[in-house]
Amino acid sequence: MRVLIINGPNLSLLGEREPDVYGVQTLAQLEAAVIAYGTERGAEVKCFQHNHEGVLIDALHAARHEFDGIIFNPAAYTHYSYALRDAVAAIHIPVVEVHLSDIAAREEFRATSVIAPVCIAQYKGKGITSYFEAIDYLLNYLEEKKA
Ligand code: DQA
Repeated sequence: MRVLIINGPNLSLLGEREPDVYGVQTLAQLEAAVIAYGTERGAEVKCFQHNHEGVLIDALHAARHEFDGIIFNPAAYTHYSYALRDAVAAIHIPVVEVHLSDIAAREEFRATSVIAPVCIAQYKGKGITSYFEAIDYLLNYLEEKKA
């Protein structure tokens, strides 16, 4: 199974960005850990991060030919990007939404995800464990679909 992990804006600053909310791990450390986790479970995992909405849309489009599924942290775009929502809905591979923090328990604007309704699941609030749970869910989903 080929899995793409996409991280959105400001996640490039993990480690120094609001460490009380997002932890002290850098993006490079998070990516290495999720690649190791997925690889142990037999998946081929690649990671991509970008701060720009249009580039994230292009990455989602391109992924539909190269990957079986996507783990997506749309970061702040989660809460208002109908363009990213439409991109997720347009591609015919499953997408799992993921967040380090618990978006339901923070500022009111974060409680809404416009992306979640077009994803197969959402994991949040557990730091990097949210990514691990998302990988497990996606791999089980893909295996069941194949069987
Ligand atoms: C985030 C939560 C978003 O509300 C925020 O804008 C982010 C990170 C998370 O992983 O907890 O940038 O997606």
